[in-house]
Amino acid sequence: MPDRRPFVGGNWKMNTDLASGRELISAIGAGAGADGLVATCDIAVFPPFVYLQAIGELSGNSGIRLGAQDVYHEPNGAFTGEISIDMLLDLGVGVVLAGHSERRHVIGEDDALVNRKARAAAEAGLEVILCVGETMEQREAGDTQDVNLNQLKRGLDGIGAERMAQITIAYEPVWAIGTGHTATPEDAEAVHGLLRQKLAEIYDESTANSVRIQYGGSVKPNNARDLFVQPNIDGGLIGGASLKAEDFLAIVRAAAEAG
Ligand code: PGA
Repeated sequence: MPDRRPFVGGNWKMNTDLASGRELISAIGAGAGADGLVATCDIAVFPPFVYLQAIGELSGNSGIRLGAQDVYHEPNGAFTGEISIDMLLDLGVGVVLAGHSERRHVIGEDDALVNRKARAAAEAGLEVILCVGETMEQREAGDTQDVNLNQLKRGLDGIGAERMAQITIAYEPVWAIGTGHTATPEDAEAVHGLLRQKLAEIYDESTANSVRIQYGGSVKPNNARDLFVQPNIDGGLIGGASLKAEDFLAIVRAAAEAG
C-alpha cells in the first residue's frame, strides 16, 4: 500500500465574521499543536477571501495551511469581483479548491472553467483540490460513475503527471453536502476506487497511487473514522463541522489515526 499522508480541509464557505474566524483558527491551531496532529496529517482551512490575510497571520506558525475556496485563472485585468492566483500567493495561500459543488451547481461553473482554474493554479505552483460529485438525480439514474469520471477527466485536462503531486481530488456527492446524509463508507470507497483507477488510465499506476482522494459530504466526528479507514479515502473536505474547532479537530484526529 502506498503511504499517502491524510489531508483534511475545513471549508468555511460563506460563514464566520472576522472575530469568530480569528477565534476559530486560534482554537484549531492550538488544538492541532497540542495533539501533534500536523506531524501526521495535512490540515488546511479555507476561510472567505476577505479574511484570508487575518486568518493567515494567525495560522502562521501552527502548520495549518491557508487555502482559498476558489480562484480566477486570468492573471489580472477587467474581471470584476474575481481574485487572481498572484493575489492569493501574496497572502500566503498554498492550496485552492476548484469545482466545489456549490460553484458548479449554485454559481453555474462548468467543467471547462473548473479546468482552466485548476490548470492555471497548478502551473503557478499552488496545490489544487479538484472537487467532483454526482447529484441525487444522477445517482438515481445510474450515472454516478460517468458523472464523476467525466468531471475528473475534464477537470484534469492539460495537467501533466509532473504536476499531479500538487493535486488532491475530493469526492463530494452533492446529495451528501450539508444534508446530514453521508455516503456509506462502502459507497464512498467504491467511487474512490473508480476515481483512482481512472487516474491510472489517464496517468500511470504510481501517479494514481500517490494522489490523495478526500471524501466530503456531512463528515462529522461520529462518522469520520469509518470513512477514513477505507483504503482509498485519504482524509476529508469538511464544511459544517469545520466551523467548530472541537469537531474539526476530532475529524482531523480520526484521519491521523486512520492514516
Ligand atoms: P458539509 O460540506 O461537511 O457541510 O457537508 C462539505 C463540503 O461542501 O465541502
